[in-house]
Amino acid sequence: MSTSSDTLAFNPFLPEVHEDPYPLYHRLRSEDPVHRSEIGFWVLTRHADVLALLRDPRTSRDPRSSERVELLRASVEVGELLDEEEAAPSMLFVDPPDHTRLRTLVNKAFTPAAVERLRARVQEIVDGLLDRVAGTGTMDVVDDLAYPLPVTVICEMFGVPEADWDRFRTWSRSLVRLLDPLVAEDAFEQALQARLALRSYLRELIAERRAHPADDDLLTALIAAEDQGQALSEPELVSMCVLLLVAGHETTVNLIANGTLALLRHPQALARLKADPSLACSAVEELLRYDSPVQFTSRHALAELEIDGHAVRTGETIVGVLGAANRDPAQFADPDELDLTRKPNRHVAFGGGIHFCLGAPLARVEAGIAIPALLERCPDLELGGAPVRRDTVTLRGLSSLPVTFRAAG
Ligand code: HEM
Repeated sequence: MSTSSDTLAFNPFLPEVHEDPYPLYHRLRSEDPVHRSEIGFWVLTRHADVLALLRDPRTSRDPRSSERVELLRASVEVGELLDEEEAAPSMLFVDPPDHTRLRTLVNKAFTPAAVERLRARVQEIVDGLLDRVAGTGTMDVVDDLAYPLPVTVICEMFGVPEADWDRFRTWSRSLVRLLDPLVAEDAFEQALQARLALRSYLRELIAERRAHPADDDLLTALIAAEDQGQALSEPELVSMCVLLLVAGHETTVNLIANGTLALLRHPQALARLKADPSLACSAVEELLRYDSPVQFTSRHALAELEIDGHAVRTGETIVGVLGAANRDPAQFADPDELDLTRKPNRHVAFGGGIHFCLGAPLARVEAGIAIPALLERCPDLELGGAPVRRDTVTLRGLSSLPVTFRAAG
């Protein structure tokens, strides 16, 4: 990877790119839309190409189809740390027919109707979190709202006792580093250790729930889910729980925090949403597009492919830059404008094709309630200090967003 910002190189770790990747994305999209990065990835930045990649059955989500993952594995002393997850990878990392089977089973437990039923509880949690800060006139949007909301929701769905939530935060933080395009060896090993600890915790939770099934609980529903006489095996069940719990901890937080920051930087849009909360749904879609919480995903070529005249070899990795696709002028008029009424808004912030985000309805409900409530309960909302960016690049978010507002009576 180049360290110079003058050369056209896809290096999301450069500090200026990490802070604001969109100028680089625009250059890549117009000058080299099927870019060969210096570490050998193909990088796609056009909306049409990214969507085609996500829908292409000649590509795989399974790391075992990548030549690069084999190299990494050979170079790191991780041995048995990989074994258990590899025996039953989560559905995000497998292809059909396994993906179809796992997704069908989880769909039975994680239904849009079940998510809609959570609406009242989400409102209650948001009200409780805002009650704590409304009288003070200051808060950190990440610590006081964006993080505790989705964590409370997903932990309650699984029946994880509150005393264990902090441990989940630590495990989940380590684990998501595996999503970045490059991971330092020590962080890689730490992430695998965290995964082992989380899996072992979940095996106990599952055993306990098998013995004492609960009403209206996602874990009980996952244990019970069967399709044509087949249920999830124990390792598959654990992998599914890891995926859902980590997704529940690490994604919606970024939507609420990035979205609030975007609104603070666009006071007219903020005022408009505050005046008309019925804009909440389309506002959430625009905030997802404008500063997407998941910036990239990747696929591995299962065969020789041709993308816009470029020959891609079997086993090569193709990165689809969701954040760039979502700013493509060929798809979105004035893509750098924040337009809360944008229609149509065919963003790919939740991916596309068979791996389209399972949690999208939940994320939409959480952000659609939290952001308007924040604006209503915290009048004259303003930045109260410099926002701090998370150091991950695949997941784009903030670790701190200090704000001030007019304290309630
Ligand atoms: C704003 C919040 C969220 C964003 C932006 C987001 C984004 C994404 C994206 C881009 C993918 C596709 C990845 C790919 O194709 O490689 C995905 C998949 C997935 N997401 Fe989300 N996600 C969010 C929230 C959630 C939540 C809250 C959950 C669950 C609690 C969740 C569960 C999943 C699962 C299980 C998959 C894999 C689906 C499959 O492989 O079939 N997500 N998400």
